[in-house]
Amino acid sequence: MKQIIVAIDGWSSCGKSTLAKQMAKVLGYIYVDSGAMYRAITLYFLRNHIDWTEKKEVKEALKDIELDFRTNDQNGTIEIYLNDENVEYLIRDLIVAEKVSEVAAVKAVREFAVAQQQKLGKKKGIVMDGRDIGTVVFPKAELKLFMTADNAVRVERRFKELVEKNPNITIEEVAENIQMRDYIDSNREVSPLRQAKDAIVIDNTNLTQEEQLKKALKLVKNISG
Ligand code: DC
Repeated sequence: MKQIIVAIDGWSSCGKSTLAKQMAKVLGYIYVDSGAMYRAITLYFLRNHIDWTEKKEVKEALKDIELDFRTNDQNGTIEIYLNDENVEYLIRDLIVAEKVSEVAAVKAVREFAVAQQQKLGKKKGIVMDGRDIGTVVFPKAELKLFMTADNAVRVERRFKELVEKNPNITIEEVAENIQMRDYIDSNREVSPLRQAKDAIVIDNTNLTQEEQLKKALKLVKNISG
């Protein structure tokens, strides 16, 4: 079976990472959550009071950031490390979610992240999810998926996820954050969220996780044999 690159893009909270993780597990591929990289950079900027509207400040700060993905021995999940610190949990906080789209719109930040993502894809056998994977990071990916779902379903799913960590969070806050991120992600100047021309759309509003996985694996099989 030929090893391929699977690029998964789509709107916030569409279940991209859930599908990507499951696909990687079944296929024995590496899973890379590119959004986690932008989130970890945002966390670093917030902690160190970096003004991301200042080009020079961003350039200097990026020199001090090292990101890597490591497998958690206990549950086998891939987690992101920021300068040797496991930040997988911290980067999911709403404080980071509120700023990440602004940080991800900065050209130097994107160049920094995209270069690392492309390096990770050199050996193929990878599933990567994000917003520009099929358009910018791997324009030649063998399989490109574009995920979407009804807005209300997306808000509900993300709310359920966040309320476990933060019982005070409201559904309105979550809806507002998703709406704001979608707007910034699809309207920024540098690599905005776009559906690649050759991407296959998966609308999972009415699909179970099993159904999505089955569909996606069938597409992989058609390509890799
Ligand atoms: O997938 P996520 O919600 O964890 O992504 C967090 C933010 O990072 C999202 O609002 C947009 C940005 N992002 C991006 O600009 N490009 C990517 N390839 C992945 C994420």
